[in-house]
Amino acid sequence: MTRRILLVNGPNLNLLGTREPEIYGEETLTDVEAHVGRVAGDFGLEVRAVQSNHEGVLIDAIHEAREDCSAIIINPGAFTHTSIALRDALSGVALPVAEVHISNVHAREDFRRHSYISGVADCVIVGCGVQGYELAVRRLAAVLAG
Ligand code: DQA
Repeated sequence: MTRRILLVNGPNLNLLGTREPEIYGEETLTDVEAHVGRVAGDFGLEVRAVQSNHEGVLIDAIHEAREDCSAIIINPGAFTHTSIALRDALSGVALPVAEVHISNVHAREDFRRHSYISGVADCVIVGCGVQGYELAVRRLAAVLAG
């Protein structure tokens, strides 16, 4: 088994730290990716981090994960609520998937309550702030350990 996790962040998550900090906190995406890498390292796992504002780039990254990753952590941003293509990419590669949302999408606008991704995710972590990414690593490490 490849001991690597793909960490995918979708649109606008490159703005973490400055974007609506009252909702998303003050940590930057660089902070988050470094932390995820450290936690994964504790389990002997590597992380490849990808962020894009473009749906097709995210889909290509997910397809490439088939070659050299064993699991995927994804915060699809607003594509959560719109993208059947992203859902199909995730189900197509058939790797364990953890869906993460920094904010509690259920306590916000109605349109954020529906996720196209959750139906193909193995776990969904919502409203835990950026700590959700760490929880996702821990869960996927347990899943991969069998
Ligand atoms: C988000 C929630 C989405 O509704 C929103 O579009 C985002 C971030 C979250 O992490 O809470 O971009 O996925």
